[in-house]
Amino acid sequence: MANMNEPSKIVIVTGGSRGIGKSIAINAGKRGLGVILTYNSQAESGNAVAEEINKSGGKAVALRLDTGISASFDDFVKQVTAILNEKWNRNTFDYLVNNAGIAQRSLIKDTTEEIFDQLVNVNLKGVFFLSQKLLPLIVDGGQIINISSGLARFAFPGSAVYGALKAGLEGLTRYFAKEYGQRKIRVNSVAPGAIDTEFGGGKGDEEHRRQIATAAALGRLGEADDVGLFVASMLSDDSRFVNAQRIEVGGGIMI
Ligand SMILES: NC(=O)c1ccc[n+]([C@@H]2O[C@H](COP(=O)([O-])OP(=O)(O)OC[C@H]3O[C@@H](n4cnc5c(N)ncnc54)[C@H](OP(=O)(O)O)[C@@H]3O)[C@@H](O)[C@H]2O)c1
Repeated sequence: MANMNEPSKIVIVTGGSRGIGKSIAINAGKRGLGVILTYNSQAESGNAVAEEINKSGGKAVALRLDTGISASFDDFVKQVTAILNEKWNRNTFDYLVNNAGIAQRSLIKDTTEEIFDQLVNVNLKGVFFLSQKLLPLIVDGGQIINISSGLARFAFPGSAVYGALKAGLEGLTRYFAKEYGQRKIRVNSVAPGAIDTEFGGGKGDEEHRRQIATAAALGRLGEADDVGLFVASMLSDDSRFVNAQRIEVGGGIMI
């Protein structure tokens, strides 16, 4: 429970309309943070998440954002600035969670430039430029969390580009931490293992799900809340000296 004497901290969660991002947004709201979440194609789901937080006594707003279109980011920053002012009487926020991501399974021999570019735009380029554009609004002492993947560490056929981009994102995490350390902004990445969401079309048939589950020492697929609860717990000064780290949340997968 947030200390009522302190102004609430504010987090922006991209891709907060479903899956892991939804869980991060809801659990951040439960911890007393103000939440700006984004959706891309599913406005109804995004607004429903904001409503759920507002109904349980929190404060949340849903905005549309396609993280694959960096030309739209200046406009998004303007919208965020207006909302911060209107809703929280602030012109800054505290935490950015770059969660929005896409996968498209494709063996190397079948991967087209179009697939490659789509994956790059959302999973790496979008994160870089959105963070760059939002950093002037993040308070000194704030934090960025980039949602990576276990596939940045281990290889599964069909995930070459996605896995390489998530590894790139972990590289960016360290570089952002280095350049923004002077503003005491921490930058970390959280790498989920196999989480049971609709991501990339879901986890497939029972046999495939069983195989993935047995790859984790805990012997099961993760749920969105397994990651959401952890990320929300990092959105406080309790993690104040954790910086430039990759933290895997995967039940001990592929160890
Ligand atoms: N699930 C897993 O097993 C797993 C494992 C490792 C890492 N991850 C990572 O965890 C993150 C979240 O995955 P998830 O499982 O929660 O996926 P999900 O259930 O498919 O949800 C994806 C979210 O991202 C949004 N999104 C998709 N394309 C977007 C775009 N171009 N611009 C902005 N937002 C976009 C979606 O919004 P709309 O629905 O409104 O379009 C949705 O809110 C991703 O970065 C993924 O790489 C997932």
